[in-house]
Amino acid sequence: MLTAKMEKALNDQIRVEAESSQVYLSMASWAEVKGLEGISLFMYKHSDEERMHMLKLIKYVNERGGHAHISDLKEPETDFGSFQEMFKDLYDHEIFVSQSINELVHVSLEEKDYATHNFLQWYVAEQIEEEALARTILDKISLIGNDKGGLYLFDRDVQQITVESAAAGTAE
Ligand code: FEO
Repeated sequence: MLTAKMEKALNDQIRVEAESSQVYLSMASWAEVKGLEGISLFMYKHSDEERMHMLKLIKYVNERGGHAHISDLKEPETDFGSFQEMFKDLYDHEIFVSQSINELVHVSLEEKDYATHNFLQWYVAEQIEEEALARTILDKISLIGNDKGGLYLFDRDVQQITVESAAAGTAE
């Protein structure tokens, strides 16, 4: 059984993951409208992953006798300025999510909820990979600079950059 404090903290994280999915969906749509097809596909995929993170939490809360709440969400930005700024936003957003997960782990220890602590280790590992992915992409972007040919290749290749390849250091 989850304590009330643990349940509330997990529900807050459900919202964070749902809002992350919305943010990346909005980035996908912006990129699509700008003709950045590869970047857009990358963001659609990333949005789906965040929804999966949210669903995993919902299932866990309900399985432990809690009630996962589906709340209203903050409206994401609709204009991201440039693709460089957008990926910087993605990186900052993932740092924010990591902090949120760390806080959640802290609550699980305070509540002596070792099952939840164990469950959350998946998210801890995932955040390491997500941050690595975002950093890999930012490194590539700084190499491109303002080179149009570089952007063309980046847009083509970014679809292949996955969380797994970035974590393994094999992203091209
Ligand atoms: Fe669910 Fe990108 O963190």
